[in-house]
Amino acid sequence: MVKLDIEGIIDDFPTLNQDVNGHRLAYLDSAATTQRPIQVLDAMAKYNKISNGNPHRGAYQLSIRATEEYDFSRQRVKEFINAREVKEIIFTRNTTESLNLIANSYGMEFVKEGDEIVLSISEHHSNILPWQRVARQKGAVLKYMYLDDKGRITDEEMDRVIGSKTKIVAIAHMSNVLGTIHPIREIVERARRVGATVVVDGAQAVPHMKVDVRELDADFYVFSGHKMLGPMGIGVLYGKRKLLEDMPPYLLGGDMIEYVTEQDATFAPIPHKFEAGTQNVEGAVGLGAAIEYIEDIGLDSIRDHEMKLMEYTLDRLLDIPYVGIQGPKDLKSKGGIISFTIDGVHPHDVSTILDAYGVAIRSGHHCAQPLMKYMGLPATSRLSFYLYNTKEDVDQFIRAIKNVRKWLGYGA
Ligand SMILES: Cc1ncc(COP(=O)(O)O)c(C=O)c1O
Repeated sequence: MVKLDIEGIIDDFPTLNQDVNGHRLAYLDSAATTQRPIQVLDAMAKYNKISNGNPHRGAYQLSIRATEEYDFSRQRVKEFINAREVKEIIFTRNTTESLNLIANSYGMEFVKEGDEIVLSISEHHSNILPWQRVARQKGAVLKYMYLDDKGRITDEEMDRVIGSKTKIVAIAHMSNVLGTIHPIREIVERARRVGATVVVDGAQAVPHMKVDVRELDADFYVFSGHKMLGPMGIGVLYGKRKLLEDMPPYLLGGDMIEYVTEQDATFAPIPHKFEAGTQNVEGAVGLGAAIEYIEDIGLDSIRDHEMKLMEYTLDRLLDIPYVGIQGPKDLKSKGGIISFTIDGVHPHDVSTILDAYGVAIRSGHHCAQPLMKYMGLPATSRLSFYLYNTKEDVDQFIRAIKNVRKWLGYGA
């Protein structure tokens, strides 16, 4: 059922139906976290009211139901990203934990002295710090692919950096700062030629565009539930079966073992080998419901909706002489994210002033300090869209932007 009639959709989101500082709320920070529809909230409440139990542990009905719900969500995730097998889906807390798991397990096991780990300069800190530690401990070298003046990684740059010593390429599918959609297929092709493993941070891509992990052929692909209408505290790590089977576990404890003796232990098969301790079943149920909601609307419709809003916004922002826009303006290689600066105004003042008009945007380094340094900026302001945003949100944002400099005493 396609129901991308915004009037219908916004009623599904209780948090969006409120006034802030005397104005209707225009929520433009979905790259940070998304709001949850009532269908997701209800699915979690229903689970808590009827089915709560510790999965995989009990022979009684509540535990069995919890196990079934958890497994059903894993199946949903598998189908959503078109993984080959359900055991290739590991539940984690979020993208950050997924990346730490890969770096600490795969990275620490297989990266050797002198190997190179390739990142892009636009990575989120979650996809930098774990690799810095691997590089330091293993004597490997971190190398960066830099962006051209349109915020993109060129073929020449990939060829310059990915070479015979490359062991791992770790890159975001979509930049959380610039919205650039990075050329994952081209990167995977180059990595294959040199036998490198590709880790894709899909935190910003999976909620907004169709992702098919088999078509991309990445070795690992990770994302967070809370950026795709789901709850916080549930994330996904997809990995190719063979790689996951060859990796040592990351966390050790209950539910991930086969046998334990006084001195030793053997481990459960994947995915359980990587899911030590009691898991976030409620979160998995919420993520499953979020996927159902997204699929009801359709990722093509979501992308189309966001691109129309982007066009509408860019047309108006580009007309304001004191606004500078970072990153690509060509919508084909960009998601629904705009990073911008206002001449003479610190980005933090921009978001504080916008809040007074009910407009929620993000300002700061966006957990991407190396990118900020590369761009020569201390911070930017960032707006980001999702399926529930409207032209009314954009109009409210533009009206507020036109007031920012007046607040600080400029004529316009
Ligand atoms: C590209 C990217 N990677 C990783 C993360 C970290 O996500 P989380 O905080 O859900 O672990 C974010 C969050 O903003 C992100 O945008």
